[in-house]
Amino acid sequence: MLIKRIHGWEMPESRATPEALFLNRRAVIAAGIGAASIAAGAGPASAQWFQSSAPDLTRRPDPTDDLYPAKRNESFTLDRPLTDEVISAGYNNYYEFGTSKNVWKQAEAKKTRPWTIKVDGLVEKPFEIGIDDLIRRTQLEERLYRFRCVEAWAMAVPWTGFTLKSFLDIAKPTSGAKYLRFETFQNPAVAPGQKQSWYPWPYVEAVTIEEATNDLPLMVTGVYGKPLRNQFGAPLRLILPWKYGFKSIKAITRVSFTADRPKSFWEQLQASEYGFWANVNPAVPHPRWSQATEQVLGTQERVPTLIYNGYGEQVAHLYKGKEAERLYL
Ligand code: MTE
Repeated sequence: MLIKRIHGWEMPESRATPEALFLNRRAVIAAGIGAASIAAGAGPASAQWFQSSAPDLTRRPDPTDDLYPAKRNESFTLDRPLTDEVISAGYNNYYEFGTSKNVWKQAEAKKTRPWTIKVDGLVEKPFEIGIDDLIRRTQLEERLYRFRCVEAWAMAVPWTGFTLKSFLDIAKPTSGAKYLRFETFQNPAVAPGQKQSWYPWPYVEAVTIEEATNDLPLMVTGVYGKPLRNQFGAPLRLILPWKYGFKSIKAITRVSFTADRPKSFWEQLQASEYGFWANVNPAVPHPRWSQATEQVLGTQERVPTLIYNGYGEQVAHLYKGKEAERLYL
């Protein structure tokens, strides 16, 4: 029998069975119902645990406060209610700050101003731009998107940002540019996860130029009508709603335009499980778990997963003629 050894850095199979009950309890508590009314549980499922770990949602001053809330783009609608902010802000994947989902407090250690984004590689002229200059050169809008993690949990979130397409007008790639490579900050002094040398830091992700010129990819600067908080990837992250969540890189410091396909963080770690394309497809299981259904965070519901996470109409054409490639993980 073939036994798969699970390395410390792999997304464990247990994560593919999300803590629905636990999250539901959290929603109940967030709604103001006393801990005493909740059936007592042990460990991380207990009300006591949540009360000491609930994310701080207090609004902090931000240089772009005047831009929020941005006008909602009504063309993006949802098939489910929005995920409660207290849930999505307290259940994150941000390996720079640890492998637990409860990293919001650790992530607060990261300063997000000043913050510069380097744009280089195959562009007319490489440059650096401060985050606030960049935000003010673009048009912010709010979009309601479904979000599907490869671990088989899902949420629905009101992101605010500018389109990646509009960023290309600022970056001015040359005709040789075929891919965009995104890189996250590197600072083990504030991000203890980066001291774990078996990870190929910094976190890197990439898309093709055709994917980037599609209308869906959003360079996200805010969520729930406010500037992004650190655990969501402040001050700038990518959101690619038709791909598994690991493609949606947080805390971007560099965008490079390349002729060759970059290797992403997860692909470097385990290419057999996390490929370049990583488009959502319920019919293609992860090598260690099914992708047929997803747990809706904050509910007890498990719903069928949709091809391209429901965004096939907008993106399926991007993959015509590429069927021989491993498009779905
Ligand atoms: N970006 C960085 N820099 N570091 C990370 O660990 N995790 C990814 C992605 N972007 C990650 C990242 C994964 S696995 C997921 S599912 C999403 O962020 C989670 O986004 P959320 O915490 O806002 O839900």
